[in-house]
Order: sequence, then structure tokens, then C-alpha cells
Amino acid sequence: MNAVTPTAPQPITDAEVKAALDLAVAQIRRNLPAFTYACQNHSSVGNFYPAVENTQWTAGFWPGEIWLAFEHTGDKVFQHAAQIQVQSFLHRIENRIETDHHDMGFLYSPSCIAAWKLVGDEDGRKAAILAADQLIERFQPIGQFIQAWGRKGVAEEYRYIIDCLLNLPLLYWASRETGDAKYHDIALLHARTTLANSVRPDNSTYHTFYMDPVTGAPVRGATKQGYKDDSFWARGQAWGIAGMALSYRYEPIDEYRKTFDRLLDFYLKKLPADLVPYWDLVFSEKDGEPRDSSSASIVACGLLEMADLVEADVAARYRELARRMMKSLSEHHAVKDPAMSNGLVLNGTYSKKSPYNTCRGEGVDECVSWGDYYYMEALTRLSRAWSSYW
Ligand code: GLY
Repeated sequence: MNAVTPTAPQPITDAEVKAALDLAVAQIRRNLPAFTYACQNHSSVGNFYPAVENTQWTAGFWPGEIWLAFEHTGDKVFQHAAQIQVQSFLHRIENRIETDHHDMGFLYSPSCIAAWKLVGDEDGRKAAILAADQLIERFQPIGQFIQAWGRKGVAEEYRYIIDCLLNLPLLYWASRETGDAKYHDIALLHARTTLANSVRPDNSTYHTFYMDPVTGAPVRGATKQGYKDDSFWARGQAWGIAGMALSYRYEPIDEYRKTFDRLLDFYLKKLPADLVPYWDLVFSEKDGEPRDSSSASIVACGLLEMADLVEADVAARYRELARRMMKSLSEHHAVKDPAMSNGLVLNGTYSKKSPYNTCRGEGVDECVSWGDYYYMEALTRLSRAWSSYW
């Protein structure tokens, strides 16, 4: 792992972690009236999240924030609101509302698994198992992967994406809960397929990867949300780093650990001095492109996850690096004034249009709901021995 530059932010202190969490929790409390019976949009508009129905892939992050606020404070007002959200998630999966995609883990881990783990919410458990059932329906034995989007089996949609590594903990959890190995077995196969194909020789990653629906052979990497096919979408690299750490937790083989270090090394080499990446790592300061602060929070969580799994000296390095990233985020990107935003962290980028991708240009230089969630998760991991929702 490369040393960070001498001008990098100092590691965040324990007192600063607590202050940042207090600030975030106060904002979440202010948001409860607007977002107890509604969801936050995937990203803010002019730094304010609109309220939306529970139909997006991102809906799980807001209840995840509420659960983290509950853990930080013990205040039952958060439990009450988060359990109302659980009912909406149960309804969504029972009626299969906008569930024809792979993002069941992003939806159901921070909302419903959290509810089951923290307060024994039986409906949370039921909903999460139904979500795991839906997710394994997308498994393609020919090629051994979970198909991300679109009609199953169609050649032009026959692909997985690196982000899906974060959907797999739902499956590991479902096998532990039900005693049925089928979920776990599919998760392991998908993670191995990602390991085999998604990392380029220079340690960057492909966002999406196509497989051959007849032979199952790897076909080609491509992007959807990065600048172009051969650039380095910052969040894809972050999902890869966090996903390798989680994969190593569930299957502790050296390849995941080595790949984690390779991906991290590439990511660090492309970072500006303040450790918050531009939305694609191909850019630098001179390009005037927006940041994606959410990538930094995701990587911090990946570092803190891996730190729990490795020997003490390596863990200390990962934790220090995560603390530096969190210092930068909390000092320069966190929302300090509710008049400016109803989110937690500014300067995220969801889906920036480029001449080479198919993005519509949403959530550019805005708060993004997973950015807020992972920011809180990283602070929580730094503040206590945290029992993961993933
Ligand atoms: N998983 C989609 C995204 O990170 O935007």
C-alpha cells in the first residue's frame, strides 16, 4: 500500500468521530417527519432530497442511516421510524415492486437485516429472506454470475457488475438464517467470477462484465457509469475494494486479500491530496470535474472491514488511512448547516453523462443516499465494535 502524501489530511480523532456522528444524527432526526412514510430519492436536487416512493435501488440506505442513528443514541424514535420503513420493504418484495434487478442486498441489508439483528423484527427477517429468494433467481449457471439488470438470459443484458459484491452478504446471511446452503453457494460462485474477470492487469476494474450466454466464457468489460469503457469509474473501484473485503470475510482465501490490496493501491495512486476522488479516477484537478465523495466513504468502510480480518500491523495501517479519509470528508464535505442541505455529505456523483456512456446525468455534485449511509457506517465502525448489517 502506498504511503499517502505529506499534505494528506490528518487522521480523524475519536472526539471528532463522535462530533461528526452527533451532527449526522441531528440531521437524520430533522428528516424523520418527511421520510418516515416516504423514501429519499437516490440523490439530492440542489442538495435537498425529494421524497419518493419505495421503488429505487437506493431505498435501503436511508433506513440504514436511521438504524445507525438508533445505535448511536439508543433513542426509540429512530427504532419506530425504521420499523415503519421495514413494512414498506416487506410490501415491496411481497409484491415484487421494481425488483427485477440484482440490488436486493443494497435494499434489504441496511433496512431489514439491520431491523432483525438490532430489535428482532420478524417482518424484517421475512422480507430479507424473500429478497434473497429473488436475488438467486437472477443467477446464471452458464457463466456462474448474478445478472445485474434487464431480461434474464438475453445476450445484450448477459452481464454482471462489480457493485454486486455488496449484494452478496444478503445471501450469506440467508443461508445462516435458513440453514439452506443454496444462497451461500451462489454468492461464492458469483464472487469467484468477479475475481476472475473484473480486475484489469493495471489493478483498475471494469464496471460491468459481459459473459457468453451459450458457452459461459468471459466476453468483455465495459462501463455504464464511468467516463468510458477503459477509464476508472471511482465508485466501481470503491465497490471493488469494499466487496473484496466482504468476500474475504465470507471466504478467507488469499486472492481476495491480494486483490483488495491491488485495487486499493491503484485507487490511492489516483487520488488527489485530500483523498476524495474525482468521479472517474481518470481525472485530476486540472480537468475541473466533480468529485464523488461517496467513493471515499465506501473505501473507508472497506478498509475498516479488512482491518478486522488481518494481522495487527496491517490493520493499523488500514485504520489510519480510513481515519484520514473520514477527516477529509467530515471537515470539507459534511453538511454543517441544515439550511444548505437535508443530506449528510455533499459532492457525491451518481450518474454523470459523458460522450462515451449512456448516463442521463443525475445527481452530479449532490448528496447521494449511499454516500450518506457509508459515511455514517464508517464513523460508526470507528466509534464502536460494530456488528455489521452486511
Ligand atoms: N450501484 C450503482 C451505483 O453505485 O451507482
